Amino acid sequence: MNDGASNGTTTRRRIGAHTALGLMLIVRPVIVSADAPLNYFLYADGPAATPTMLLGWTLAALAGVVALLFAVLLIGAIVRPRSPMERDARYVHAEGGGLHWVWIGTAISSVALFAVLAYMLVTLESVASPARRPALTITVTAYDWWWKIDYQGATAVTTANEIHIPVGEPVKIELKSADVIHAFWVPRLAGKTQTIPGVVNEQWIQADRAGVYRGQCSQFCGAQHAHMAFEVIAEPRAQFDAWYASQAKPYAPVSAAADVHEGAALFKERCAGCHAIRGTDADGRQAPDLTHLNSRRLIAAGTLPNTSQNQLDWIRHAQRIKPDSLMPSIDLSATDAAALTAYLRTLQ
Ligand code: HEC
Repeated sequence: MNDGASNGTTTRRRIGAHTALGLMLIVRPVIVSADAPLNYFLYADGPAATPTMLLGWTLAALAGVVALLFAVLLIGAIVRPRSPMERDARYVHAEGGGLHWVWIGTAISSVALFAVLAYMLVTLESVASPARRPALTITVTAYDWWWKIDYQGATAVTTANEIHIPVGEPVKIELKSADVIHAFWVPRLAGKTQTIPGVVNEQWIQADRAGVYRGQCSQFCGAQHAHMAFEVIAEPRAQFDAWYASQAKPYAPVSAAADVHEGAALFKERCAGCHAIRGTDADGRQAPDLTHLNSRRLIAAGTLPNTSQNQLDWIRHAQRIKPDSLMPSIDLSATDAAALTAYLRTLQ
């Protein structure tokens, strides 16, 4: 008797533990992903993204209700006792045999699907263009595996992998590709749009809150597709204008130190074929513009935080950090590394 009772308790405990584990497996990813920067299902921070998020919720809720309804009806159908007559497959066609439920079900599904279609079309229309004229146009060109950002202001500004925008204002993005098909995606601000060689696609974004929004290439484009990220930094207008004014300035030599001078010569010799520093002879076009390198938060398209040490690691080991990327790993003696670092520090 005692054994039976304790067996029962153990079984109940086991079922309890398994249920708790099952719930954790379902709930945990939801909690963990809630903060993930690419989570477009729980968060939207602008008018180009909110309607699609609500559409996603509606479709998920509808699918959940339908799945639940089917599960209940199916279980009901399995456990319901049947008379011998009902067990005959031909019975369903007989008068009162239940065939009309199939028609009712089809009619309900058709109406629901048409309603969803209408809702989708209305949503697409509402995110197709902003309510007012964009305050700003930015051209984003996708390269294997980084993003070139050109502002079409009175003074042109070129940067890489970091887009600054003023909060609360619609911004038009012209999308181009320099090589293969990529896709521009800032999940919390808008849906994806492809960048196609030879074609200029358009997209708009607007951030209602100041903050840093992660973006990602979302079209498989080769070995370093996963390391092709970028950031959108939304800031109050005054801050944005100050940022723009500082980016519009060409390189200003801030130091006459000997190592900075040597670093500049080294840069001209070994880097300038690919990289540009506006205001100097370096005007390479196939790599990120480095004029204001140190103003950016990350380097190598979101791969590393932008510190002096990471810049040097990147220069020496680009092929280890981002294999196949179009920047070679560059051998530098200790003296050259120190000089180059001193020069790169002046790129404010
Ligand atoms: C053959 C062309 C080429 C040469 C030469 C080259 N780079 Fe690069 N560099 C690139 C490319 C392409 C990228 C972007 C790589 C990526 O993110 O996938 C890059 C990225 C960088 C970055 C990161 C910039 C950012 O904002 O993400 C730095 C810093 C950099 N290079 C410095 C240098 C220095 C310093 C030299 C010379 C010692 C140099 N590069 C030589 C092509 C080159």
